[in-house]
Amino acid sequence: MNIALIHGPNLNLLGTREPEVYGTDTLDSINAALKKRATEAGATLSCFQSNHEGAIIDHIHGLMGKCDAIIINPGGLTHTSISLRDALAGAAIAFVEVHLSNVHAREKFRHHSYLSGIAEGVICGFGVQSYELALEAVLRLPN
Ligand code: DQA
Repeated sequence: MNIALIHGPNLNLLGTREPEVYGTDTLDSINAALKKRATEAGATLSCFQSNHEGAIIDHIHGLMGKCDAIIINPGGLTHTSISLRDALAGAAIAFVEVHLSNVHAREKFRHHSYLSGIAEGVICGFGVQSYELALEAVLRLPN
């Protein structure tokens, strides 16, 4: 199983960015832990982060035919990007939406996601564990 992990804007700053909200783990350590678990499960995991909406969309297009499932933390694009939703719908690759923080316990503008309605599922509020739970869910998706 080939899985793609995608991180949206500002997630490159994990570790130093608002640690009281997002914790102190870095993006590299999250990627490494998930890669290790994927390998143990006999899957491959590719990791990608960009602060640019178009680059993320291009990356998703490039995954078509090469990837069985996507785990995506879209960052702030969650709440703004119809184009990102269209890219995921167009690529027709099953995906799980992930957030470190519980977006529903935060500002109202974070309560709406343009992606949730077409996701296999959504996991939020468990910090780094949100990613780990998403990976376990993806590993159990039917092929
Ligand atoms: C986030 C939540 C978003 O609202 C925010 O814009 C982020 C991170 C999270 O992981 O909790 O950048 O996706």
